[in-house]
Amino acid sequence: MQVIESVQEMQTAAMQLRFGGHLIALVPTMGCLHEGHLSLIRLAREKADKVIVSIFVNPEQFGPSEDFADYPRTWKEDLEACRANGVDFVFHPSAEAMYPEGFSSFVEEKQVSSGLCGVSRPTHFKGVSTVCLKLFNLVRPDFSYFGQKDAQQCAVIKKMVRDFNIPTEVIVGETVREADGLALSSRNRYLSKSQREEALAISSSLFEAKSMVEKGVVNVDRVIAEITHLLSLKRRIRVIYVQVVDDETMEAVKTIQPGRSRVCVAAWIDGIRLIDNCLL
Ligand code: PAF
Repeated sequence: MQVIESVQEMQTAAMQLRFGGHLIALVPTMGCLHEGHLSLIRLAREKADKVIVSIFVNPEQFGPSEDFADYPRTWKEDLEACRANGVDFVFHPSAEAMYPEGFSSFVEEKQVSSGLCGVSRPTHFKGVSTVCLKLFNLVRPDFSYFGQKDAQQCAVIKKMVRDFNIPTEVIVGETVREADGLALSSRNRYLSKSQREEALAISSSLFEAKSMVEKGVVNVDRVIAEITHLLSLKRRIRVIYVQVVDDETMEAVKTIQPGRSRVCVAAWIDGIRLIDNCLL
C-alpha cells in the first residue's frame, strides 16, 4: 500500500494506473475509519482492481462554529485498517495542498443541497462538492463510493456528477449499524454512555416509521408526528429536522411512496450532531 500526500503525485499515479488498464475505485473519507467505511472499501474491491482511499478532513465543509478542530483524527489506526482491507493507495493531502493560497473556485449544487442539512449548515455541501470534484479530477475514478447514512450528500454528489458529466459511477453502500441499530458515524465516539442510549431513539424511531409504512400508512404528517413524539421522550435530544423526502431530489413529499421516499432525521444529542435516515 502506498501513501501519497502530494496532489501532483496522486494525479500521476492515478493516470499511470489508468494507462495500465486498471479500473480505479475511490473511497473519499475524512478518516476515523469505522466499519461503514470498511464496507465501502470491500465493495470497491469487488468492482475495481485498484482502490484509492482519500483521508482528508476537509475544512471547507465545516461551518465557523462547527467541530473541524475537534473532528477525530486517528491516522495510525486508519492506515492499519486500510492495509488490512487491501487498499492500494491512501491519499492524505494537507489542507495547503488541496487549497493553496489564492484558491477561489467552488462548486455549488443549488437544489438537492438546499433543504435538510443545507438549512442549518448552509456552506456544508458547497465544501463537500468542491472537495469531491477535486478528488474526482485528481483520481479519475471509474467508481466512487459513499455511505447511505449521508443520504443528502449521496444525492448531491450524484447530481453534481450528472450535471458536470463526470465520468465516474457513484455507488452508495448501505448504512452500517451497531447491533442495537445505532448508525455508525465517526461522531459516535463523542457520545457518553447515557448520550448513546438516548441517541438510539433516532434509529428506533426510523424503524418504527418504516414499520408504519409497511402496515400501509402513507400519510407523511403521521409518520413525522410519531418520530417527533418518540424523540421528544429523550431529554438530551433536540430535533433539527424530521422530514420525508424524495430519495433523488431530497424535496419534501406530501405522500409516502414506498421504495421512493426517505425519512431523514438530524438531531443534537446535547452538543453532538447526528443524522440518520431510512428508505420507507
Ligand atoms: O462523508 C465524508 O466523510 C465527507 O463528506 C467526504 C465525502 C469525504 C468529503 O469530504
